[in-house]
Amino acid sequence: MSFEFKGRTAFITGGASGAGFGQAKVFGREGCRIAIADIRGDAVGSAVDELRAEGIECHGVVLDITDRAAFVRAADEAEAALGPVSMLFGTAGVSIFGPLEKATYDDYDWIFGVNFGGVVNLMQTFVPRMIEHGLGGHIVNTASLGCFFANSGSGIYSASKFAVHGITMAMRDALKDHGIGVSVLAPANIRSNIAESVQTRPAKFGQSGYAVDRREIEALHEIYSQGMEPEELAGHVREAILANRLYVIPYPEARPLLESIFQQALDALPPADSDQAGQEQRNRAMARYIAARREMDAERYGA
Ligand SMILES: NC(=O)c1ccc[n+]([C@@H]2O[C@H](COP(=O)([O-])OP(=O)(O)OC[C@H]3O[C@@H](n4cnc5c(N)ncnc54)[C@H](O)[C@@H]3O)[C@@H](O)[C@H]2O)c1
Repeated sequence: MSFEFKGRTAFITGGASGAGFGQAKVFGREGCRIAIADIRGDAVGSAVDELRAEGIECHGVVLDITDRAAFVRAADEAEAALGPVSMLFGTAGVSIFGPLEKATYDDYDWIFGVNFGGVVNLMQTFVPRMIEHGLGGHIVNTASLGCFFANSGSGIYSASKFAVHGITMAMRDALKDHGIGVSVLAPANIRSNIAESVQTRPAKFGQSGYAVDRREIEALHEIYSQGMEPEELAGHVREAILANRLYVIPYPEARPLLESIFQQALDALPPADSDQAGQEQRNRAMARYIAARREMDAERYGA
């Protein structure tokens, strides 16, 4: 419980709305300086006004998180305005739902570009800076409960969130000796504007296999109107940072689903005491590889 929020600078993608804006408010109230980056300029302007009205020191930048060169400029700008960034929130995300077999490459490229690519670009831009600053810190990437399961309708979205889950877990391991904690947020339902996310889809990914009409958007609004308040969700994120916990999944209703998924994986395993000789052989080979890898890495990267 030694993490100190006060005086840190946080960079939040998707910070102008929904979960990201909730994080901006909650961590701003904890004494963080807040940089919000979002593709929607009007939303950035009103979010910054609202944060400043609360006395939160903040900076807004209009950024498409899929644009790597613009990301570097946004990072330079945020650090010039608010000082070295030591907290990252990869919160921006978009969704589209429909039968998986109807999807086009543009559907894949847009969803993966924002949801996974945005998280990658955030970490590629800032992780070397965070290590260099030596201030420790924390990274929270937003996946979804869909980072644990997928069905036809949510297929591309879920697959992109599986990828966010995987890279975030790996980054937690990579940064463990740098005093930088890493968590993955897996929400089930947030009261947000994500039903409208199709409006941020760029023309270059215009060929969709899905019919996104007003009826579809209204139906999504209806679900998300019943979701958890973003500030409440950000409060759970705050607790997870303090405890440096990998997972943030503050939805009790997710238990049966997660139990059934992990039970299926466990059911696929042979009994623990079967194939003793094979187990020992494979474990020894893995241990030898890990030891050799450590030695090679120490030589090559000074790890
Ligand atoms: N709403 C839910 O029920 C729910 C459930 C599980 C996970 N999530 C995840 O939560 C995160 C936050 O979403 P939300 O529900 O608060 O939605 P939201 O639409 O209210 O907020 C997301 C923000 O991301 C921004 N954004 C979209 N594309 C961008 C881009 N290319 N570059 C920069 N900014 C971009 C949007 O303009 C928006 O302001 C997303 O990653 C989403 O997948 C949401």
